[in-house]
Amino acid sequence: MILVTGATGTVGSEVVKQLLSKGLKVRAAVHSRPAPKGAESVQLDLNSAESVRAAMKGVEKLFLLTPMSDRATEQVRNALKSAKDAGVTHVVRLSAAGADEKSPNILLKWHGESEELVKKSGIAYTILRPGVFMQNFANFMGGTIKQGAIYAAAGEGRVAFIDARDIAAAAVSVLTGKGYEGKTYVLTGKEAISYGRAAELLSKATGKTVSYVSILDEKAAEGMRASGMPEWAVQGMTGLNRSTRENKLASVSTAVLDLTGKSPRTFEQFAKDYAGAFRA
Ligand SMILES: NC(=O)c1ccc[n+]([C@@H]2O[C@H](COP(=O)([O-])OP(=O)(O)OC[C@H]3O[C@@H](n4cnc5c(N)ncnc54)[C@H](OP(=O)(O)O)[C@@H]3O)[C@@H](O)[C@H]2O)c1
Repeated sequence: MILVTGATGTVGSEVVKQLLSKGLKVRAAVHSRPAPKGAESVQLDLNSAESVRAAMKGVEKLFLLTPMSDRATEQVRNALKSAKDAGVTHVVRLSAAGADEKSPNILLKWHGESEELVKKSGIAYTILRPGVFMQNFANFMGGTIKQGAIYAAAGEGRVAFIDARDIAAAAVSVLTGKGYEGKTYVLTGKEAISYGRAAELLSKATGKTVSYVSILDEKAAEGMRASGMPEWAVQGMTGLNRSTRENKLASVSTAVLDLTGKSPRTFEQFAKDYAGAFRA
């Protein structure tokens, strides 16, 4: 039995779908949204040790994704303890590119701390460090893209965006294969592009003009606060925007191809597949 946490989210829902398509036994951990079709499901609150313990019963492998939360490190600690007690044999942790317990960026620091907990858990592990998701364009920028614009404090910086479907495919390879224990993989797309180029590709795919508007950090932070984002997340995202402008998120890895045998999707392909979501 494979337990997938965050099973209703961007990556987790794809992991469940792809594991089911291989005929594997999957338990989808659900929180506040309905369970994905076809999988056994379990109600899970990662903040509750009791809930985590119950979800872990009979589980052999764990795909451990935590939401963006200031409790993420504690959630990982909770999950690892129950996983150890339940006899889980392999944990695949969804981290982030640049994770480092010494990072000045709180988001990367928490991911770094979680990685250390995973490494010290006594359970065989594999760490996946994805770069920026292509799906962010649909999930967080879809509203303005429908109106014809991408607003980002990204300057002309390039990013090796990755499609969440390829992150899931890499996770499935690791969960179902052998020889990945004790390893860390940085997952990216196969090219780094700017937000301006992303806007061009979205224009082409949707058949309407999408423009990129480069904004200042202060303006971006205002928007994040207005959307209800807590201050720690605003600061973390502002740091990632700075890294984008400095081309620090532009490195390309071959890990998706190495793990899955397939080249990761291009942004052009993503834009075509999601075109409907970007049309008004
Ligand atoms: N977005 C990026 O570009 C990017 C890049 C690198 C790494 N990451 C990392 O990827 C992770 C997020 O992945 P994602 O975008 O696939 O997630 P997501 O779409 O935001 O979904 C989060 C999932 O976690 C569940 N959840 C929320 N609170 C929970 C709780 N207390 N207990 C149990 N489950 C809970 C949600 O369930 P409900 O919706 O039902 O509440 C949902 O299934 C984060 O760790 C983030 O740092 C993101």
